[in-house]
Amino acid sequence: MQTLLLNAAEKGAVEKAAEIIRSGGLVGMPTETVYGLAANALDGKAVAKIFAAKGRPQDNPLIVHISDFSQIGRLVRSVPEKAKKLAEAYWPGPMTMVLEKSELIPDEVSTGLPTVGIRFPSHPVARALITAAGVPIAAPSANTSGLPSTTTAQHVMRDMNGKIDAVLDGGPCSVGVESTIVTLASDPPRLLRPGGITLEQLRAVLGRVDVDRAVMNPLPKGARPLSPGMKYKHYSPKANVVILDGNERAYADYVNAHRGPGVAALCYTGEEKLIRVPAVTYGGETDYGAQARDLFEALRHLDEIGAETVYARCPEPKGVGLAVYNRLMRAAGFEVLRIG
Ligand code: TXA
Ligand code: MG
Repeated sequence: MQTLLLNAAEKGAVEKAAEIIRSGGLVGMPTETVYGLAANALDGKAVAKIFAAKGRPQDNPLIVHISDFSQIGRLVRSVPEKAKKLAEAYWPGPMTMVLEKSELIPDEVSTGLPTVGIRFPSHPVARALITAAGVPIAAPSANTSGLPSTTTAQHVMRDMNGKIDAVLDGGPCSVGVESTIVTLASDPPRLLRPGGITLEQLRAVLGRVDVDRAVMNPLPKGARPLSPGMKYKHYSPKANVVILDGNERAYADYVNAHRGPGVAALCYTGEEKLIRVPAVTYGGETDYGAQARDLFEALRHLDEIGAETVYARCPEPKGVGLAVYNRLMRAAGFEVLRIG
């Protein structure tokens, strides 16, 4: 299959992508978080193609994207008061709500769960595409399963060229990590995946919000997490990533003492001058937004420079930094060394 690269800024590009969606095809779609691999959410056959293109495990459900709050009504059993409040505060934006699903949601989307994740993205191209397609859009991150998520159209082409109908280039993603997932199907609500909307922001609207164990910790073998995606190894470059937990000085000393062929560093912006191995940066030490935006690009870049062992500076799990911590821990298979 020839994968079309469409520039969203060009006339007719969004309409062309919408036509592909309507006729059961797959399109790489820009969102403010990461690129999504989009299909008509109401067409089980089209959704099944997403799993094949990504090599995605069959028990990992998909998020359904809408372009107006009114579209949620027929996708879920009911819209609780808490969902309305959250939507008012943070939609459109980088947040997914898990609710009890309606019969309209095909099994291919929910993979046997009684719930569905709904997201109303803020990216103008994503919204235009959903509106033009005239159907809700199911979309996981547009990466090969297991690899880092994609934050540019070029990343999507690298993973999906020849496997999907088109990629709609809407430029680099501004948030850079996937949406926050909160389930309202349990009481109190529970954070399943940290993202662009912080835990503090959720609590400001909902009061008590519990944090699922899988957010900060590795899962025990055979465990069945509330969010099935949590049990898979994720976001991993080919290199073996080791997180070093310590201050800047201890980090630089450790990395420099362990330099050798294939060793590389993933450090904060400005620290590269202290490091005597190839270094890739991912935002300033307290600039959690920049860390989120740059993380997946940095992980992909480390593979491009042939890194085999990557020593990563440990992110602080604060604000959006919690999402960065969660992703990097998974990329490292929870391998953390305390130093200094
Ligand atoms: O920002 C995002 O959310 C991006 C963009 C494209 O919108 N999408 C995304 O999708 O990250 P994906 O499939 O890569 O990650 C979705 C996660 C998976 O871990 C999945 O297990 C979980 O959401 N999930 C989906 N539906 C769920 C449900 N009903 N209950 C619990 N977890 C669910
Ligand atoms: Mg994903």
